[in-house]
Amino acid sequence: MNTAKKLTDKVTWVGKVDWELQTFHGHEYSTRRGSSYNSYLIRDEKNVLIDTVWLPYDREFVEHLRSEIDLHEIDYIIIQHAEIDHSGALLELMREIPDTPIYCTKNGERILKGHFHEDWNIVTVKTGDTLDIGQSKLVFVEAPMLHWPDTMFTYMTGENILFSNDAFGQHYATESLYNDAADQCELFAEAMKYYANILTPFSALVKKKINEVLAMDLQVDLICTSHGVIWRDNPAQIIHKYLEWADDYQENQITIVYDTMWNSTRLMAEAIATGIQAADPEVTIKVLNAAKYDKNDIVTEIFKSKAILAGSSTVNNRYLSAMGGLLEMVKGMKFKKKKAAAFGSYGWSGEAVKLLTEDLTTAGFEVVNDGCRVQWVPDEAALQACQEFGRSFARSI
Ligand code: FEO
Repeated sequence: MNTAKKLTDKVTWVGKVDWELQTFHGHEYSTRRGSSYNSYLIRDEKNVLIDTVWLPYDREFVEHLRSEIDLHEIDYIIIQHAEIDHSGALLELMREIPDTPIYCTKNGERILKGHFHEDWNIVTVKTGDTLDIGQSKLVFVEAPMLHWPDTMFTYMTGENILFSNDAFGQHYATESLYNDAADQCELFAEAMKYYANILTPFSALVKKKINEVLAMDLQVDLICTSHGVIWRDNPAQIIHKYLEWADDYQENQITIVYDTMWNSTRLMAEAIATGIQAADPEVTIKVLNAAKYDKNDIVTEIFKSKAILAGSSTVNNRYLSAMGGLLEMVKGMKFKKKKAAAFGSYGWSGEAVKLLTEDLTTAGFEVVNDGCRVQWVPDEAALQACQEFGRSFARSI
C-alpha cells in the first residue's frame, strides 16, 4: 500500500505506484519501468476526489482512502477519463458512497455506463464549467481524443494546479513523485515513448488543445498527471516538449527495421546501414530486428526518425509476421513527413518488398524507390549493391 503524499495544504496524492506492471493496454504497451495511477484528494470547504486507480487495486485504494478521510465526507468525485486504469476503483468506492455525484464529460457518462452499467448520480460538464469548492474553484476543460473522446482536464484556482489526466504522463513508477526527483534520462525516455505510442495519432488535436489552454493564460505551478511524475520543476517544459513532439517531430535519424529467416535480410540491413553511414556520417542509424526488439521501442525510434527502411524475407508469398504486427501498429500512428523504402531477400517468388512498399505507402510514408531485393544469400556483389542502395537512400532524404 502506498502512503498518501501531501502536495499542498489542500491537495494530497492518494494513488497507486505499480512497480511490477510489465504491460499495459493488455499486451499492447510494454511498461518495463512500471507505472502509477495517480489519484488526488482535494480538501477545501468541499472535499473532492479526482480519478481513482486501476481495477486490480480497487480494494487497496478504497482502504487507503478511508485512512485519509471519512469516505462520507467526499462531496464530489471527478472522473476525467473513464478508461479502467482511472475508473477501476469506482464500483468499490460507490458501494460505500452510492449517492456521491460523479462529474465527467458527456462522453464520459456514456463510457462509464458502458463499463459499469450502474445508475450513478452523474453530472456532466463541458469546457468552461466550474465547480466552487470553497476558496478554490475547479475549472473543466474538455480534451477529446487526448486520448479518448471523454478526456478532460481540471484546473484548480488558488493552488494553480492543472490536473491533466493522461496528457503529459509516462508509464514510470517512482516513489519520489516529482519530475525533479526522477532520473531525467529515464523520465524523458518514458515521456517520449508514451507520446509516440499513445498520442501520435492525435497530434493535431494535441497542438490545438495546448494552444487553447495556453491562451487561457493560467498560472500553472503543478501539472498533476494520471501516470508517472507530477511536473513541479518548470512544468512548462513538458508542455513545450508536447508542442515539439506534436509538430511532425523528427531527429536526424534513420531506422532500419527488419525480420529475417536465415540471416540474408539481416546481412542486407547491415550493408544498407554501412552505405547510409558512408553517405551521411552525421546521421544516427538504428538497425532493429522486429522479432526481437520491443515493438513500442521500435515505434518510438520510428517517431524519432526522418526516414525508415523496412525489410523482410518472403515466406508463403508474404512478408514475415513480426513485420506484419509492427506495420499494423505503425499504420495506426499516422506518422507524417517521413520517408521510407523496403528491402528483403527471397528464394523464388519474392513478393515481400512489393508488399512492404505498398503497406509503407498505406501507413503514410513517402516511399522514395521500389526497394532492394536479393535472391538467396547475398554474395559480395549483392552486399555492395545493398551498400549503394543505402548510400542512394541517404542522399534522397
Ligand atoms: Fe491512463 Fe487512457 O488511461
